[in-house]
Amino acid sequence: MTSQRDLKIALCIMIVFMITGIICYASLTPPAPENPVRKMLQNKAGKVLFTHLVHTDDYSLDCLDCHHNIEDDDTYNCSECHEETGDEDLPSRADAFHNQCKGCHEDNGAGPVECNSCHLL
Ligand code: HEC
Ligand code: HEC
Ligand code: HEC
Ligand code: HEC
Repeated sequence: MTSQRDLKIALCIMIVFMITGIICYASLTPPAPENPVRKMLQNKAGKVLFTHLVHTDDYSLDCLDCHHNIEDDDTYNCSECHEETGDEDLPSRADAFHNQCKGCHEDNGAGPVECNSCHLL
């Protein structure tokens, strides 16, 4: 027979597991950092690993070099504006990335410009 005491113990154990679960969930999903360490950019040509923090710290780039919009509209997300398909006035998301990433690498004579040196994975 299950006693009242056994039920209480079982309930306590359940509560402990639930709280542990909530704490783990909260600590595994932190908010987006102000200066992200790295971004894995997904697309059909192969994932591109972008070392965000290395670009801002080691290569001494300004936020506005890439987030060219930030004064008008505080979004860091390129695809808020650059959608799947673009036009003459507003390049598509893929064109925006190709022009900006490759463009700067070409201008500086540093950083990858070959397809498979970015599309690694
Ligand atoms: C070399 C280009 C470049 C520079 C310089 C740069 N960023 Fe970014 N940043 C990006 C790209 C690309 C993304 C990804 C955008 C997307 O996925 O649409 C991004 C994303 C972000 C995000 C969103 C993170 C997330 O996970 O949602 C934040 C916040 C951000 N950048 C802040 C900054 C700040 C602050 C600086 C200056 C200290 C900075 N960035 C400099 C290119 C750059
Ligand atoms: C708030 C909207 C907005 C966001 C966010 C945004 N852009 Fe743009 N982008 C535009 C508009 C509008 C244009 C076209 C007018 C211009 O050149 O400024 C443009 C133009 C560009 C161009 C072409 C510029 C040229 O000189 O030919 C590139 C490249 C580009 N964006 C890359 C990016 C990248 C990469 C990100 C994210 C790091 C980003 N944009 C975020 C609105 C945005
Ligand atoms: C405003 C200039 C600039 C922009 C924009 C830029 N880069 Fe770079 N990138 C550099 C420089 C400078 C280096 C350093 C090259 C070296 O020292 O050999 C570099 C190096 C790299 C490297 C190799 C080393 C590393 O840090 O991983 C990769 C990969 C790379 N960039 C990817 C990207 C991608 C993807 C984007 C677009 C989302 C991008 N870059 C946008 C300037 C830029
Ligand atoms: C400097 C890094 C870099 C180089 C070099 C580069 N790409 Fe990309 N490519 C990217 C990034 C970043 C994206 C966009 C990822 C995203 O949408 O989040 C992308 C997206 C794409 C896409 C997806 C387009 C779509 O509409 O979904 C294709 C296809 C592609 N690249 C092909 C190529 C080919 C072919 C080459 C060589 C001629 C090349 N890339 C060179 C970084 C690069």
